[in-house]
Amino acid sequence: MKILILESTCDETAAAVVTDSLEVLSSVVASQEHLHERYGGVVPEIASRAHVERILPVIDETLKRAGLVIGQIDAVAVANTPGLAGSLLVGLAAAKALCLALDKPLVAVNHLQAHIYACRIAAGHDVFPCLGLIVSGGHTSLYRCTTPLEFELLGGTIDDAAGEAFDKVASLLGLPFPGGPAIDRIARLGNRAAYALPRPLVDTDRLDFSFSGLKTAVRYRIQLPGAAPRDNPLEPATVADLAASFQEAVVDCIIAKALLAVKKTGIRVLCVGGGVSANGRLRERLEEEMRRREIALYIPPLKLCTDNAVMGAIAVERLKAGLVESLDLDVYPGLVR
Ligand code: KG4
Ligand code: ZN
Repeated sequence: MKILILESTCDETAAAVVTDSLEVLSSVVASQEHLHERYGGVVPEIASRAHVERILPVIDETLKRAGLVIGQIDAVAVANTPGLAGSLLVGLAAAKALCLALDKPLVAVNHLQAHIYACRIAAGHDVFPCLGLIVSGGHTSLYRCTTPLEFELLGGTIDDAAGEAFDKVASLLGLPFPGGPAIDRIARLGNRAAYALPRPLVDTDRLDFSFSGLKTAVRYRIQLPGAAPRDNPLEPATVADLAASFQEAVVDCIIAKALLAVKKTGIRVLCVGGGVSANGRLRERLEEEMRRREIALYIPPLKLCTDNAVMGAIAVERLKAGLVESLDLDVYPGLVR
């Protein structure tokens, strides 16, 4: 059985073909980064228009690379939550049109659950039950994942997502968009202990995150409230030190809450997903901290951390459980679970 998976939740137009035994036959990701770069963030209207232009060529290319024609597809899966409304609609409309024309089943994918499922695909064996930690541009959440079909939200950010904080701090530091990779690169040249920045909520028993105060703390290191605007850019060494100190604070917060979730649930398997899990320092620290405590850690390779359609192979689990959708399936931009 071959499943065509579509992903258009934010600013990547992606498609993949996987089999029901999770073999990846092809995967294509068309990024829109350069379209949003000059605005310093994703502009929803630009994103949805770009999806409209790209979705059919991306599907064509995906089928071509798999050596298939559309009639050989047995089911179509699409991420319909969470994400930008206009972006989600483009993927869903394409998926529905294909299902209607081909008379094939439609499968719904939750984008956050798919990020966790990327660990299952990368591992090549079952990873459930596990704790799921999503660190992306729009979400920072912890889940108890009993099976690939049962995800219970344990906690999440009460303000900015981790990736959002990376992007905003990068912009304060004059670094290019997307800010996460830029901070990751420059932080390697900086001193992680140069600036004492807060670790919000780490000393609490709550499974929640908060990053907006940390972002504000970085802002005040650059310029005190009420001070006249800076007339010269920050020294490169200062940028590197601030980036390294900020990154270390985010990593400390993420690790503290992942460990708290292990303690509270007794689950000693941690699966990490989302764009921020591409961060070099976060990966290094997670590996170190989990190894020391003998907690099994799964982090997908970089290309499965950022948005892609392969992770939507969680659709295989839904299909096997008979969870198919009618053609009046809608998009749910907000977090549904
Ligand atoms: O999961 P993702 O590709 O899209 C969403 O679903 O949000 O995550 C994108 C986020 C952006 O905020 C980006 O800055 C961040 O992931 N990101 C990183 C790195 N690579 C991407 N953050 C820190 N370090 C990185 N290497
Ligand atoms: Zn994502």
